Amino acid sequence: MERTYIEDAGAHVGETILCKGWIDVRRDQGKLVFFDFRDMTGYIQGVILPNRAAEMAEAVKDARAETVVEVVGIINKRPERNVQTDKQNGDIEFEITGLTILNKAEVLPFEVNTDTKEINEETRLKHRYLDLRSARMQRNMRKRDQVQKFIRDYLHDEKFIEVETPILTKSTPEGARDYVVPSRLYPGNFYALPQSPQQYKQLLMTAGIERYFQFAKCMRDEDGRGDRQPEFTQLDMEMSFVDREAVMQLNEKLLIAIVQQLFPHKRIQQMPFPRISYKDAMEQYDNDRPDIREDKNDADLLAFCWVVDFPFFESTSKSDNPDAQGEWTYTHNPFSRPIEEHMESLMNKENVGDILTTQYDICLNGFEIGGGSIRNHSFEALSKVFELLGHSIETIESDFGHMLQAFKVGTPPHGGIAWGFDRLMMLLLDEANIREVMAFPKTGEGRDPMMNAPSTISDKQVEELHIVVKKPKQ
Ligand code: AMO
Repeated sequence: MERTYIEDAGAHVGETILCKGWIDVRRDQGKLVFFDFRDMTGYIQGVILPNRAAEMAEAVKDARAETVVEVVGIINKRPERNVQTDKQNGDIEFEITGLTILNKAEVLPFEVNTDTKEINEETRLKHRYLDLRSARMQRNMRKRDQVQKFIRDYLHDEKFIEVETPILTKSTPEGARDYVVPSRLYPGNFYALPQSPQQYKQLLMTAGIERYFQFAKCMRDEDGRGDRQPEFTQLDMEMSFVDREAVMQLNEKLLIAIVQQLFPHKRIQQMPFPRISYKDAMEQYDNDRPDIREDKNDADLLAFCWVVDFPFFESTSKSDNPDAQGEWTYTHNPFSRPIEEHMESLMNKENVGDILTTQYDICLNGFEIGGGSIRNHSFEALSKVFELLGHSIETIESDFGHMLQAFKVGTPPHGGIAWGFDRLMMLLLDEANIREVMAFPKTGEGRDPMMNAPSTISDKQVEELHIVVKKPKQ
């Protein structure tokens, strides 16, 4: 017999069907044994009637919650008084005629038929494969996938293509520390894991791709927070022949479409999204990711806003940027272009603190969910930025020579943005931190308790990688 998915059971009243899945709950009530079954499409209640109890006793002896089973039974309409309108399949019942255990479940470290919010997070992450079975985590994973599919389709319709960029690469300055990977073949040399695909996506513009996007894994060695993970996902985009307005418009339309199509119960406070200058945000809200919600008690209110007109440079004495080399460092992205009126100041290296960048950040309910800019695609102007950042001619050549070279062989004007995709999903799904919308996140302290990472490596691996491991201080 062919498998019927549980969501389709209602179409088979009066028929015998075969379902496969997990036992969600088992209840023994006198002569009746009730089971709630679950598959990826939903839930259904089943019952073993007293006339079958004896013949099935052996088969269901070990059938406790979370056991994987194959169940054959008849779909019956429930009498009116037993209909549960608030439940999936609440109008039918599955009269079990045969049950086969495919894999037994031992006693579980925690129950998964709750929302698992009350369970210790370390325990949840250690057994993440179980935690992900809960209805809430299933919803989060499936909604995340729906949003990703929606974005992929939307951007393809807008002539974008998705291009993968390397994970083993060289450090790109994004203002955080790099994770590095020692090279076996080149003793003493290291790859860096990307903090973002920034340079690659710009080089794809040189390459004539024109409209690029990617769901990109980014790695940053910084301290964890509720909205920060060492490894996270960006929706990364770059476009040729665009100005700031075009990038902002496209992103705004896409965000609105996602909310309206996939989260119709949510209300967007203001459209078009309001725009606030960095200066006003700091003066009025004392931060650069203002929470402009009219009513902070309304769970379904989404208050998007853009923040623009950021200073390009800040004094290194005020910055904790690990890339800072000289008197000035960048506030967002060294590859950004200043606003047109301030291009001359950059070229003359004057009034540096007053130069504004084309940077735009998109904020939602007090979180920065994305940021980008129009880029500096001129060789001379980009060199000026690196000079101001305190790089010598030699380091500019060794670290960014490839970018400068690319900008001499016909690179179109371009700009882009990257969304913190986990942060957006956290807010759309009303979750308290981004770990809840990631399948296998790290703990707040950057560990994976399930895989037990990070971990030591063997002496042989250390030897092959030409590295020396200092004994950790006790
Ligand atoms: P930026 O560094 O602002 O820009 O990153 C873009 C967005 O990524 C999210 N984000 C994070 N999310 C989870 N954990 C983290 N550790 C983390 N760090 C950042 C934020 C942020 O707005 N290359 C540029 C983009 C560009 O200019 O196109 C970049 O990476 O939501």
